[in-house]
Amino acid sequence: MTANILITPGDGIGPEIVAEARKLLEALRDDFGFDCTLEEAPIGGAGYEAHGKPLPEETLALAREADAILLGAVGGPRWEQLDRPLRPERGLLAIRAELGLFGNLRPAILYPQLAEASSLRHEIVAGLDIMIVRELTGGIYFGEPRGIRRLENGERQGYNTMVYSESEIDRVGRLAFDIASKRGSRVCSVDKANVLEVSELWREVMERVARDYPGVELSHMYVDNAAMQLVRAPKQFDVVVTSNLFGDVLSDCAAMLTGSIGMLPSASLDVNSKGLYEPVHGSAPDIAGKGLANPLATLLSVAMMLRYSLDQGALADRVQQAVGDVLNQGLRTPDIAARQSRTVSTAEMGDAVVAALRARG
Ligand code: NAD
Ligand code: IPM
Ligand code: MN
Repeated sequence: MTANILITPGDGIGPEIVAEARKLLEALRDDFGFDCTLEEAPIGGAGYEAHGKPLPEETLALAREADAILLGAVGGPRWEQLDRPLRPERGLLAIRAELGLFGNLRPAILYPQLAEASSLRHEIVAGLDIMIVRELTGGIYFGEPRGIRRLENGERQGYNTMVYSESEIDRVGRLAFDIASKRGSRVCSVDKANVLEVSELWREVMERVARDYPGVELSHMYVDNAAMQLVRAPKQFDVVVTSNLFGDVLSDCAAMLTGSIGMLPSASLDVNSKGLYEPVHGSAPDIAGKGLANPLATLLSVAMMLRYSLDQGALADRVQQAVGDVLNQGLRTPDIAARQSRTVSTAEMGDAVVAALRARG
């Protein structure tokens, strides 16, 4: 079966890192018998420039038809003054919502070669392997009412609403428990149930889901403590399941444990495991266009795509091994540079991963 892959490069470093992912996909297609078609379409600021909106209809139509989507990153100073509905970030939120991509998997794995790049001591992060499952199409990101209103005293007030229905909590809970049952069999649900009613319901539904998974242990943690525990003793976690906003914050925090945000891939899945794959980081305007960006999070997102949406687990393993090989060779983009390493550009890193893939055969 041919896999139809849509590539949406986006803005800032998006096009640079996605170019390396394209090289990788082409190598898999040409030399490893991976049957795929690659199409490209604009999103984010690039969508706005081409079609006047951050998620052009043409892009959404192609995304609906695709078996999987690879996204670079969106956003940048050029579009920050636009009306909110036209901003690049809205394009990303819209494609997630339109495709029903409620389950966002953000694995934080420390490659042993990068122990020195972590901001934490080696013994605290060695062997780290956590999976953050972030709810992606609900919560305060999408809750109504929202806006900025004028109060009677003349000042303005901004407001958003954190909402979760039982079915939304249930499905992301089941996703987390399914994943946990295939790895460490522990789920930690992160909430703010000591303050928020929405979290009280979240906790109750997680308890209910847990009854269907007797082999998986459920624990609960408040989000403030979870942030602290992630930097104190991150290896206590196996699978973390949490709401949209908390997951956004905690996954950037977890990223740094692995050495750099440039190392963290993600998968965003619908109920049928169709998915959008993207690095966890943003468009990094501060380093865009300079060949400084680390493309490994994007290449590892390709590996996740092969595994979770395209039923190509063996190829996914090969990509991950190739990334390991390149790190063993001492090649590093500046964000993960260390003593004894050789600093390479975005494109050199991408080329090295493809070469390592071919060298393994
Ligand atoms: P960011 O993740 O873009 O950058 C944060 C820091 O990490 C910067 O110093 C950047 O240089 C560095 N960094 C990020 N990715 C890197 C990589 N691959 N290699 C090396 N260094 C890397 O976050 P930000 O600065 O808060 O946001 C910049 C823009 O990106 C904003 O417009 C924001 O809305 C957008 N954003 C988009 C996404 C996405 O598309 N998924 C995610 C986060 C932020
Ligand atoms: C992410 C980003 C997005 C989010 C923004 C750009 C809308 O930070 O993917 O982590 O908050 O979900
Ligand atoms: Mn984020």
